[in-house]
Amino acid sequence: MKGLVLAGGAGTRLRPLTATSAKQLVPVANKPILYYGLEDLAEAGIVEVGIIVGDTEDEIRKAVGDGSTWGLSVTFLRQERPLGLAHCVVVAQDFLGQDDFVMYLGDNLLRRGVRDFVAAFEEERAAARAVGAEGPAAQILLAHVPDPQRFGVAELSPSGEVVRLVEKPTNPPSDLALVGVYLFDARIHEAVDAIRPSPRGELEITDAIQWLIEQGYPVRSQVVAGYWKDLGERSAMLEGNRLVLEGIEPAVLGEVDDESRIEGRVVIEDGAKVVRSVVRGPAIIGRRTVVEDSFVGPFTSISDDCLVVRSEVEHSVVMASCQIVDIARLTDSLIGREVIVARTDVRPRSVRLMLGDHSRVDLA
Ligand code: DAU
Repeated sequence: MKGLVLAGGAGTRLRPLTATSAKQLVPVANKPILYYGLEDLAEAGIVEVGIIVGDTEDEIRKAVGDGSTWGLSVTFLRQERPLGLAHCVVVAQDFLGQDDFVMYLGDNLLRRGVRDFVAAFEEERAAARAVGAEGPAAQILLAHVPDPQRFGVAELSPSGEVVRLVEKPTNPPSDLALVGVYLFDARIHEAVDAIRPSPRGELEITDAIQWLIEQGYPVRSQVVAGYWKDLGERSAMLEGNRLVLEGIEPAVLGEVDDESRIEGRVVIEDGAKVVRSVVRGPAIIGRRTVVEDSFVGPFTSISDDCLVVRSEVEHSVVMASCQIVDIARLTDSLIGREVIVARTDVRPRSVRLMLGDHSRVDLA
């Protein structure tokens, strides 16, 4: 079984955070989203992984290296233009050969990983082969979501069989969204060759799976809990952050002085310093970050090399190398790299901003 991770595409939906970088590298609980997928594949026993890359190839290569951090052997596969998820399978055809594979969208996150999902597919395929049958051609994961029109949506028969899949329907037939992790055997190559681009101009994996169903090839499905995908919104990013922080193992690797209090599920990473402050979990403080005379948490991730001084930060994600100084209360915020949020005495007294495109500021 091989892995195919999709980390191409144009990161326009999480602007401004991805105006200049890959959306798969946006951190959730101080770790790029993409790493969670790679960890999941390694945990499922997969070693050979192809990663689809586009314009942000250099950044993705730099972040992943040769994959040895996860015990993976990684091959980068260049997709010249983001022509759709099924097009990624076409690009990977030589790499995949006739092997079964897991396709994992680089911007998806599953709380429970994919180990059981992969094992169930392999077992069923092995059992089928033992009696000379082919077994399922695909297995998909579904999740109940409040906004199915933003996903691929499945319609199931009363007995639970997948009868139809539609991509981003205006009138969704159910609230069951296709999660961005799929298992396929080599019959998917016939499917991606047979389908045509959708109205949005992409070769849709949803249409390829629908094609498998129409050929009478068995497609299994399973509903999961604890699913999250970036939807390009601040609230969704904060929700992903919450989902992961709720499960982190507390650890204090940095320094915490006697006048500080660490409460609940908190990670203080290596080289971080907490001085005269309270950190209330779930929360994570990144490497070399200094928190002084401040309150941080709950549901807050402060990335590496930040400075938080005389401030309160709650339910927020702060990316690397930021400074937050003298801010009485910062909540529900998503802050990109190298941002400075500070109070000053400079006259005239007013709010002075330097914001990138598509930024947003809410003033009390
Ligand atoms: O996340 C689950 C959803 O993913 C499914 O419910 C949908 O059925 C499926 O079509 C897909 O929807 P999106 O339109 O949201 O996919 P997106 O364009 O965000 O691409 C998903 C990942 O794949 C992302 O990490 C970028 C990468 N990608 C995307 C395209 C279109 C590529 O590497 N190449 C591509 O051509």
